[in-house]
Amino acid sequence: MVEPELSNLSHETRTFAPPPELAANANLTAQAYADAKEDRIGFWGKQAERISWAEPFTEVLDWSDAPHSKWFVGGKLNAAYNCVDRHVEAGLGDRVAYHFEAENGESEDITYADLLGRVCQAANALIELGVKTGDRVAIYMPMIPETVVAMLACARLGAPHTVIFAGYSSQAIQDRVQDCGVEVVITADGANRKGKPSALKPTVDKAMENCPAVRKVLVVCRTGQEVAWNDERDLWWHDLVSKQPTTHKCEFFDAEHPLYVMYSSGTTGKPKGVLHTTGGYMVGVSYTHWAVFDLKADKDVYWTAADIGWVTGHSYIVYGPLANATTSVMYEGTPDTPHQGRWWEIIQKYKVTILYCAPTAIRMFMKWGEQIPAKFDLSSLRLIGSVGEPINPEAYMWYRKNIGNDRCPVVDTWWQTENGMILISPLPGVTAGKPGSAMTPLPGVVAAVYDEAGKPVDKGGAGYLVVTEPWPAMLRSLWGDDDRYKNTYWSRFPGVYFSGDGAKLDEDGDFWLLGRVDDVMNVSGHRLSTTEIESALVSHPAVAEAAVVGAADALTGQSIEAFVILRESAHGGGEDVVKQLRDHVADQIGAIAKPRSIMVVPDLPKTRSGKIMRRLLKDIAEKREPGDSTTLADSSVMDLIQANLAGAK
Ligand code: WT7
Repeated sequence: MVEPELSNLSHETRTFAPPPELAANANLTAQAYADAKEDRIGFWGKQAERISWAEPFTEVLDWSDAPHSKWFVGGKLNAAYNCVDRHVEAGLGDRVAYHFEAENGESEDITYADLLGRVCQAANALIELGVKTGDRVAIYMPMIPETVVAMLACARLGAPHTVIFAGYSSQAIQDRVQDCGVEVVITADGANRKGKPSALKPTVDKAMENCPAVRKVLVVCRTGQEVAWNDERDLWWHDLVSKQPTTHKCEFFDAEHPLYVMYSSGTTGKPKGVLHTTGGYMVGVSYTHWAVFDLKADKDVYWTAADIGWVTGHSYIVYGPLANATTSVMYEGTPDTPHQGRWWEIIQKYKVTILYCAPTAIRMFMKWGEQIPAKFDLSSLRLIGSVGEPINPEAYMWYRKNIGNDRCPVVDTWWQTENGMILISPLPGVTAGKPGSAMTPLPGVVAAVYDEAGKPVDKGGAGYLVVTEPWPAMLRSLWGDDDRYKNTYWSRFPGVYFSGDGAKLDEDGDFWLLGRVDDVMNVSGHRLSTTEIESALVSHPAVAEAAVVGAADALTGQSIEAFVILRESAHGGGEDVVKQLRDHVADQIGAIAKPRSIMVVPDLPKTRSGKIMRRLLKDIAEKREPGDSTTLADSSVMDLIQANLAGAK
């Protein structure tokens, strides 16, 4: 499989018009672009009608304190009420909210009425643990219904949650729990993964050694494996939650009340606590979920095949779909357990109509072969989506043909943790999609491509992707670090949001995403920081210096390649040191951050000002002749590295 150069993608000329039937019945028509253009604020005010407000807002947007936005000023609402209670009150209690499918094939249908009872129980349990409005709760959980219940219970109480992806290490939990000032953690004994139980609680236990502020750890029994127990601190979910009343009268909070914090990697070693608030976020996710997926809540069976531990799961497994009273699939396992057709079997079983997943998964399915999905009945599908990284035309075409049966529109959706909601995407009933392009900003969203000097480029030009007007689900700040918020997103081009992505506009004015322009990597749709991995490597006693680059990879988008200079004392460690270092990174951050290769080098290429020239290392990692090295302080370094690598083979 040959990965085309990203910059060549926009030579693609194929287009796929919306299926006529879908276009005729689409939730949004081309008129929406015109309406939003004419009165953008009024357009968002209208979208806010999708949400139930306990008190109406008096102003749609207050941008007077930019870059801090306030949306739906004065409005009061409860996110959990909007996701669950109001649907039950409207007579939809019997509708399935989730078809939960466990890895081992066990399954459970959870209706909106069931969900309401469970969320109320969990909220009552958190109250018993002393959780109050404004307190932060960390959630480190497998992909199980209790995870959604825990999030909604927090939202119901106005206690912002911070969900930590269950692949992260103790160190990562500790950093997030401390940064966010968490006092209560919700976790499970373990998760089912690849046919085996894998432990979660020991990872939390280890983190807790350095988190004295955490008073209580609430533990769901998922796998039944042996766990260590701290009687003072630990409580079983089934002991505490199950005995609670299934009703709870919720309070309503200000539109700008914090809903959650999601940590994401930036260009420095320290993850950023991206803060989302309630009103704008709920409007943004419900609108985009309805518009981009053309959701028909009474007919569709919707599946986001992602983990709730990432923003995709927050917005399009939990808040967006539930706000829209959707029936969703929630799947606990990996795509190849117990067989490589597992996803297609699930689509067949539940007659899934809309699938949303990442290009890295699609490329993996391509590698496994089209004969696998061909064995299943995928005729229920009517729309398929992609998110997390640029989708190369080859993967797009494979997805369209083998999963979408050349019938379903593909929506390639661009957005980020910070955005909270999809910003750039085709509208399935309007846009003729092009393989590899996210097409245009959604109605209500205004984005542009800027050149180095901050001038919008013309059609055919390339540069930096910026969002030029605020949008409702935008992050409000970084938890505890507002200066970093302003510097990271609003200083590169004053007054507009800098995404950190490169993009190109084609001759039609459609957007083509070109990947990150900063030190952020995208590995299998997971965002990782080169600096964060470098810090992890350097924290090992054997390492004197480290440089990390993301190299193009046909399957995972990018792969992590590390170059290290060892300390004198560690020389001669060979293979052993490399293994130790990979494990050390897993320990510091999580297994997803393990470098694919670690090359021991005598020196690193640096400019006269001491900046590592990662571009040259990237050339080596991607097995190219290194480019121009004339600005190096010591130009012999590259020869030395290459001689060294040749010698090591
Ligand atoms: C970065 C954000 C938002 C969901 C998952 C990732 C890349 C995301 C696309 C797309 C090209 C994409 C960007 C972005 N990205 N979607 N459709 N086409 N690139 O969230 O971890 O915050 O990562 O993912 O580089 O900056 P995230």
